Formats: sequence, C-alpha cells, structure tokens
Amino acid sequence: MKKIIIGNWKMNPTSLKEAESLFKDIAKLSKNYKGDVAICPPFPFINNLRKLSKKVLVGAQNVHLEVEGAYTGEVSSKMLRSVGATFCVVGHSERRAMGETNEMISKKMNLLLKDKITPILCVGESERTLDHSYLSFVRVQLVEAISNIPKSQLKNLVVAYEPVWAIGKNALREATPEECMEMVLYIRKTIADLSDSKIAHCVRIVYGGSVHPENASSFIHAGGADGFLVGRDSLNAKKFIKIIESCNQ
Ligand code: PGA
Repeated sequence: MKKIIIGNWKMNPTSLKEAESLFKDIAKLSKNYKGDVAICPPFPFINNLRKLSKKVLVGAQNVHLEVEGAYTGEVSSKMLRSVGATFCVVGHSERRAMGETNEMISKKMNLLLKDKITPILCVGESERTLDHSYLSFVRVQLVEAISNIPKSQLKNLVVAYEPVWAIGKNALREATPEECMEMVLYIRKTIADLSDSKIAHCVRIVYGGSVHPENASSFIHAGGADGFLVGRDSLNAKKFIKIIESCNQ
C-alpha cells in the first residue's frame, strides 16, 4: 500500500512567510519520495501553500459540521475544497479535549467526503489499562464515527492511531511498535466488521503518537503502520524528511 506521511503543524508557525519557507524546504527534500506527503497548516496558510508544490498536498486541521450559515469563526468543507485542501484531520485528541464528540466527527466526515476531501480520522485511548479496555474504547470511536458513511466511501479514509498518552512534550512514554501493530490490526478488523475486508485493506492506518527520525522506521517495519501523522517534527524540514525516508527503507 502507498504510504502517507502527514505533517500536522497545529498552531505553528506564526507567519505566512515562515510557513512558505518551511513548506518549500519540505517540498524540495521530498520530491523523490514515491509515497504521499501532506501538510496540514493553520487555515490562513492553506491557499498560499497549495500553490507551491504539486508533490506535497495540503490539508486542514478541522472543519465545521454545518454546510454554511451563522457560525462565527468556523470554516466549512466547501470552503476548504475551494482553496484546494485535499485532506482534513478530524477528531484529533486536542479537539476532542475541547468537546468534539464522535457524533460531531461523523457529521464532519460525511460533509468532507461529499466535498471530495479525504478525512484523516484520529482515534486513540488516553490511557492503557491492563484489562485491554482501550481496544473497546477505540472500537466505539470508530463505530460511531464511520457507521453512517456509505461503504463505498470508506476505502478513501485515512485513520490515525493516536495513543494520547504517547503524544506531545508531556508524553508518559513512547508507544512500542508491538502496541502500534496490535492497534493497526484491531482498527483494520473493526473497519472490516463495519464494511468488508476488501475495503478495510484499502484504508491507510497511520501512526500518530510522537514520531521522530529515531523511532519512525520501527513503527513502519515492526508496527505495521501505513505512514504517520507527525506533530512537532513536521516543523523541522530535515527531521520530517528523515521520517519520510524511513518509509522508503
Ligand atoms: P507530536 O504530536 O508529534 O508533537 O507528539 C503528534 C500528534 O498530535 O498527532
């Protein structure tokens, strides 16, 4: 399966000038990579960045669940489409922490797919307990987010497994490739239960815990990931390229 490496820039960098410079560096260094590369910058940068490269695709980090109307401060999927967004992250743990529910995520995914934007659906537990309840937790997230999506559209999905305890500067610890593999298999099985195994094998399941040049290769080769959703290290072109290259080896 063609790998995909997505950079989630979150609320960085602080100016369009810096965003363009970083994006150009990433585009230059990744031009020979055969898989897909995408950057999800803050909304104001999308339109400028997507004109800078044919290789590196551009996505958004969030979308509103209504089509249009009196929703101050929100952005719709049609708007994202009109400025050239190819992907959109939905259900990132940082947005779930702000109150985003599985029901809201499901509505957002439906709108995005109608507008031909590929959702990057984030799922993942906040803690690992010995009773393996994290598996059923992730299953519920998947079932509630994708049950209303027509089966024919499921194969276009990207699912990011984000163990919340292994994300960010305050991560408890790194996840192991084995923990990643278990969840990749479980997510694929759940999608197969909700559709069929042929569709489930088309869905790209990427790893979205903290990824660095040092651990990336193990999540691909021993962890079974189809790529990455990278936070901090996507803000450093050299580190991001090393992560991309680890998918080639
Ligand atoms: P991080 O973020 O790489 O900065 O830990 C990952 C994420 O939020 O997906």
